[in-house]
Amino acid sequence: MLSGIQPTADSFHLGNYLGALRQWVAMQETHDTFYCIVDLHAITVEHDPELLRARTRVSAAQLLALGIDPERSTLFVQSQVPEHPQLSWVMECMAGFGEASRMTQFKDKSARQALDRVSVGLFTYPILQAADILLYQANFVPVGEDQRQHLELTRDLAQRFNGRFGQTFTLPEAYIVKDTAKIYDLQDPTAKMSKSVPAGVVELLEEPKKAAKKIRSAVTDTGREIVYDTENKPGVSNLLTIYSALTGKTVAELEAAYEGKGYGDLKKELGEVLVEFITPVQAKVKSYLDDTAELDKVLARGAERAREVAADTLKQVYDRVGF
Ligand code: ADP
Ligand code: NA
Repeated sequence: MLSGIQPTADSFHLGNYLGALRQWVAMQETHDTFYCIVDLHAITVEHDPELLRARTRVSAAQLLALGIDPERSTLFVQSQVPEHPQLSWVMECMAGFGEASRMTQFKDKSARQALDRVSVGLFTYPILQAADILLYQANFVPVGEDQRQHLELTRDLAQRFNGRFGQTFTLPEAYIVKDTAKIYDLQDPTAKMSKSVPAGVVELLEEPKKAAKKIRSAVTDTGREIVYDTENKPGVSNLLTIYSALTGKTVAELEAAYEGKGYGDLKKELGEVLVEFITPVQAKVKSYLDDTAELDKVLARGAERAREVAADTLKQVYDRVGF
């Protein structure tokens, strides 16, 4: 199983955790897991070098603090494994220009800009992503809807290569992750929680008191009853989803517990639950960041382990294409 996350924020948010990273931790129990901080993908758009370096470390620290165990998972930084861009070049030569041009994510991201301001890297990004997956002969890739087309491209490229040069790559399958929660913006519960609107986003590394206050200020609907109803009560439903995901209590249990109580009680208590969750995570993150030499060592060991697998795949690929 392979999954990656971009080091493009100073903190992961609650949506990243409840929608993805929590499952990364759980999947360590059942799969041979490779988790990659995809910094090569982070430079497809303009970036600041020092900020990228800091965010790569803070991303790693958060993954460790949330429970990624570097003994059980291969946790590494993409740029430390040169086989990624090496395989990517070969796969670029497998991909049709038209085929790559049909990627809807690129079309969306480039739509509002002059094409000379959009990097070629942003265009070939899905092919690098294919290389990320194929290097490790991953059987499974957890994917959300927005990544389905990229996984299809990965499979097409792998199949094409296998067909032309002989069986080399495992065809990865989309892994439908159980218990993922889609988390909505606290200020606009019809939009997904994302980095764009600060007041609606809970960051894992923000001041706990501030985080609790954001929950208390979350938009709820008129009415009083605390019931899960995404149609008529998206705000309350979102809070129940978060509450349930953080405590393991079912939504039905929460509805029963809050019968006759008001939104204020729900928000206050969820704020406390959130504070209890993020406070120890933040302490762990801080201790990892207090010793960056040790953190860098953990990542270097991860990269070494990743390279053992990646180099093996690349060697076969190079041999088959005639290098
Ligand atoms: P963002 O959408 O904030 O830019 P990313 O696209 O970097 O975040 O997402 C990283 C991971 O977190 C992905 O697996 C994505 O599906 C998940 N994720 C992001 N936002 C949410 C959300 N609001 N609810 C559930 N999962 C989310
Ligand atoms: Na995304």
